[in-house]
Amino acid sequence: MMFIIPLVMLAVMTALLINAGVVTFSWLKLILKKLSPAVFYIIYAVLTVATIAVFIGGRAVVLPNIIIKLGSYALGFYINLILITVVVQIVRLLLKLVKVSEKIPSAAYAYVGAAVCLLTVGFTVYGWVNANVVSKTTYEVEIENAEQHGELKIAMISDVHLGNLIDERHLAKAVDVINSTNPDVVCILGDLFDGDFYALRNPEKIAEQFLRIESRYGVYVAFGNHDAGSTYEQMVDFCKSAGMTLLREEAVTVGGAFTIVGRADSRSIGSAGIARTSAEAVLSSVDSSLPVIVMDHQPTNIREYGEEADLILCGHTHKGQIIPINFITNLIGDVDYGYYKNPATGTQTIVSSGVGIWGPIMRTSGHCEVAEITVRY
Ligand SMILES: [Fe+2]
Repeated sequence: MMFIIPLVMLAVMTALLINAGVVTFSWLKLILKKLSPAVFYIIYAVLTVATIAVFIGGRAVVLPNIIIKLGSYALGFYINLILITVVVQIVRLLLKLVKVSEKIPSAAYAYVGAAVCLLTVGFTVYGWVNANVVSKTTYEVEIENAEQHGELKIAMISDVHLGNLIDERHLAKAVDVINSTNPDVVCILGDLFDGDFYALRNPEKIAEQFLRIESRYGVYVAFGNHDAGSTYEQMVDFCKSAGMTLLREEAVTVGGAFTIVGRADSRSIGSAGIARTSAEAVLSSVDSSLPVIVMDHQPTNIREYGEEADLILCGHTHKGQIIPINFITNLIGDVDYGYYKNPATGTQTIVSSGVGIWGPIMRTSGHCEVAEITVRY
């Protein structure tokens, strides 16, 4: 039974990839009249199988990093190719149904083929570049019920996914943006790792980047679903050595100014050392006269909190990362990205799109971001 879902997914992916190959050949044939079907299909099949093999097996057999990265860039291209071929086919079907396609002169199809090829390449290049750029998103939040008053600057990142694809070079861009915000505190909202500590090729260089963060009150981490598995303890030790404070079902008052709470993840992939309890248990002893900021990786958990939580910080969704997955994440829970205020409790939530990427090197939905949050209370 447990093999049925992966087999169905594999069958669907294979059908979509074959369809994408057939449609791509028909476009290319419009502009490259002498293109041999044998040459095209052999090249297409070899590149496609190599990409999937690298994605599925690359980590298991510890391929050179450059091969895994090339495979992840190629996978991003294939996802866009599947998306665009399916969209074009739906448009063609609709034109046929309304009997418009008969009126289009056959010579126009060469231009359409060229335009769709260019669109696929352009969209893919945008996604590759966007996956490598770290930007800043700003928020301003008012907390009205705190008895003490002040202002706090939070720099928040999530979903770094350190491992084969995200290394110290990408992290350095994030640290530069974090330091440019001059933060009082830095919050890391889980999926710091990509499920395997030993996928980090240079842990020392990565630690150096975290130690470069300039923050008045330090760097706090709550783990996500990928910060788990057989190397969980190594992940915990790394956080300590890199100057971060990992909060696991804990609340701490920082500088007498605010309380920060770190939750364990609700759906960890593998063992995660410490069990998640309940929002009530973790928040029962916090000082409600100070602003209470909760770090909880998955935004589907936010209904667990009542008025005792002032601001909840989340990650996990990546804002879909790739079109059209963002349409699916948008349907799940109260918020999958950005700012949300619970109308009943007044609790505010900010969900980050993540500073890294997962799976293919491709980001066509959202940006790799650092959230600069100014909290007034
Ligand atoms: Fe996650």
